[in-house]
Amino acid sequence: MQFPVYRPRRLRETETIRRMVRETRLSVDNLVMPYFVTHGREVRREISSMPGNFQLSVDELTREVKETAALGIPAVILFGLPATKDAVGSEAYAKDGIVQQAVRAIKDTVSDLVVITDACLCEYTSHGHCGVVERGRIKNDPTLDLLARVAVSHAEAGADVVAPSDMMDGRVAAIREALDETGFEETPILAYAAKYASSFYGPFREAAGSAPQFGDRRSYQMDPANGDEALREVALDLDEGADMIMVKPALAYLDVLWRVKTEFGVPVAAYNVSGEFAMLKAAARLGWLDEERAMLEMLTAIKRAGADMILTYFARDAARLLRR
Ligand code: PBG
Repeated sequence: MQFPVYRPRRLRETETIRRMVRETRLSVDNLVMPYFVTHGREVRREISSMPGNFQLSVDELTREVKETAALGIPAVILFGLPATKDAVGSEAYAKDGIVQQAVRAIKDTVSDLVVITDACLCEYTSHGHCGVVERGRIKNDPTLDLLARVAVSHAEAGADVVAPSDMMDGRVAAIREALDETGFEETPILAYAAKYASSFYGPFREAAGSAPQFGDRRSYQMDPANGDEALREVALDLDEGADMIMVKPALAYLDVLWRVKTEFGVPVAAYNVSGEFAMLKAAARLGWLDEERAMLEMLTAIKRAGADMILTYFARDAARLLRR
């Protein structure tokens, strides 16, 4: 295939021909919209570093989620802002915790929407870490039981999928066992398997009030320099019973996404995280990027790299464009 016999530009001349040979097609079916739910009524507090995203009370969230479902988006993922925090993150697994309330309300309103819950402790703990803290260290094994309680309480509230994001070793097995024992053997686990200790979570920590109060998350989340290790993490989570796995963040980790998809061929989710969203929004606001085109290019690239599902704060904006 050599010039002038092969001229790649022949298939780029018009939009119609480009449309015919396009390899990757982003669809609304690929999108998952994240939400932050908070106590109270009629609360709708915009997150300054994530324009267009809000901390919503259950009533507001329910209204919003109806629109999201009407846009054809198949799933949402919920994060909670508790009324009070303590050392063991009690509200994370409370029957009437904020996420549990939100799940019930959403399932009552739009029952066919898939509700995914983030099963973690960091939003609920006074120290802001994803596990139990003893003498300044984040303890692995004592955390597993708490995570299992979080997952079961979400399933009891009606969650369709639970997504552990803590990065403790062995948590998928602990959660699977607890779900099976409580009659939720049909509830799938979406494991944040390759989750990196990333600076791109900055805006999320404002949104969810989950910044660690001392130190950082590098003793449990992955080192951004490691790719092979991501494959080991994924293998481990699949062995422990994960039904779907996640790579997070997305943009700076497209190689990891590709390797995971190629190696395992399981359903893969990518989390287009808050910092990736904020970066694009900020540049667009300054007039430095065309927001719509950059957004669609970014989401298409994440899909091309191997993602079946994309968790993104752009889900609603993208869905509106994709329906046109
Ligand atoms: C909780 C959690 C975080 C995100 C998702 N789940 C924050 C963190 O690990 O610090 C980040 C999502 C985003 O930045 O959009 N463990």
